[in-house]
Order: sequence, then C-alpha cells, then structure tokens
Amino acid sequence: MEKSYCTAVVLAAGRGNRMGTEVHKQYLLLAGKPIVCYSLQVFQESDIIDEIILVTGEGEEDYCRKNFVEKYGITKVSRIVTGGKERFHSVWNGLRETREDGYVFIHDSARPFVDEEMLSRLYEIVRLDKACVAGMPVKDTIKIADKEGYAARTPDRSLVWQIQTPQVFESALIIEAYEKLMQEKDRLAAEGIRITDDAMVVETLMNLPVRLVQGSYENIKITTPEDLLTAEAFLCHYNILE
Ligand code: CTP
Ligand code: MG
Repeated sequence: MEKSYCTAVVLAAGRGNRMGTEVHKQYLLLAGKPIVCYSLQVFQESDIIDEIILVTGEGEEDYCRKNFVEKYGITKVSRIVTGGKERFHSVWNGLRETREDGYVFIHDSARPFVDEEMLSRLYEIVRLDKACVAGMPVKDTIKIADKEGYAARTPDRSLVWQIQTPQVFESALIIEAYEKLMQEKDRLAAEGIRITDDAMVVETLMNLPVRLVQGSYENIKITTPEDLLTAEAFLCHYNILE
C-alpha cells in the first residue's frame, strides 16, 4: 500500500505545574539533552513521519526554534505554533495547521521514549481503524473511588490500560472531532467532563471506537520529579546494553 502523508503534532505548551520547576519540564535536560528533543529526534529520523508541527507556550516560539529545532537539526518542523490554556487548546492550534489528508500523530513532548517500532505499530493500525492510541495494560489493580474516598469499584485488571501518546488518527477525522469539541466544550465542562486526551474527543464526539495499541512501559510521561530518575535509569540501562 502506498505510504500516506503523516504529520506529528508535538505538544510542548504545558507549564509543568506538578514538576514544580521554574523551567517548564519539557525543556529540562535529561542526560544533557532537553526532554522535548528526544521525541523530536525520533520523528525527525522516522520513515513514517513527513512533517512536524511543534506547539509551544506563548512567547517561547523563538527560543524553541533556536535551541531545539535549529540546534538539533529538526528540519521536518514546518511550523511552530502557540499553544493554549488546556492541552486540548494546544492540540487544536496544532491541528489547524495540519493537512486534511493522511494521518496525524499527536504526541506529548513530555514522553521522551517514543520509538520507531511504536510508530510503525500505530501506523499499521490507524490505516485499518482510523483511530488508535499507544498504551499498556496496567500492572497494579485499579480502583474507582467514590467522592468520599472509599473504593467503589474494581474493574477487571486484564481490561484496564494506561494510555500514552502518540495518539494517531485520520487527519480529517480528528480535525472534525476537534471542531465539534470547540463548539461543545462549554456544555461538556458544565457536565463535568474534562478532556484529558485525544481519544476521548473521538470517543465522545464521533462515536467511533479507538483501538488500543501496544506502546511500551518505558514510554513514561515525565510528570513529577521522581520520573526524571526513572528516565535516567532507562537511559543508563539501554546505553550500556547497546
Ligand atoms: N500541554 C500543552 N498545552 C497545555 C497543557 C499541556 O501543550 N495547555 C502538553 C505538555 O507540554 C505535555 C503534554 O501536553 O507535553 C501532557 O501534559 P501534562 O503532562 O499534563 O503537562 P503539563 O500540563 O505541562 O503539566 P502539569 O499538568 O503538571 O501542569
Ligand atoms: Mg497538564
């Protein structure tokens, strides 16, 4: 089958409140390299990704161009766009610059350990199912709490996945889904529905099933300080083995 055009929308417009550092977490150095540059380099070297749209915080566009895009030779970056208040605003700003044909890989820059094999698994599946996301079966038992903090339900662990990025969609589908979201976001917020990933937008507004594809247990999101130690341990381990 002919290769379709693939765009990566890389999100780097968050403020990293849970990390608590002055520098936003995606710009922190991990083994001497800014976290955002790990995934940019994977997309740059990928046979699947044709173009990268980088979404950054307001006023950080030039800083990102100079220190990440130019310094690390990420020539596939066609545009650096300004993000918004919530993650979904940032995604929307990226999608507005995306071609309507082909596929979009939406990725959190806070996940440095995406790899080409994962991209390839996602690409194979999205061509069949139109919408898929990386994730892994959980290792811990998960409980749903009630509002008082008591365990209310225990879902069957074999059916529970932790969801990662990339989240990959037909471009036309995800653009339409986000157009609907932007029209209905106030209603959803009033109903207490908080949009935390892109699959949710497709599930909620397009009524289309989203396929879960194996990511990896290394594909962590750097969120709190101890995640940096885990990430360093992975780097150490794999560099020694290579
Ligand atoms: N993100 C974004 N725009 C936002 C919020 C988040 O582009 N308005 C990006 C982040 O930069 C990150 C990814 O979305 O790469 C996942 O979000 P998260 O881990 O929640 O990062 P932050 O929102 O920065 O962190 P926190 O929630 O702790 O403030
Ligand atoms: Mg956040």
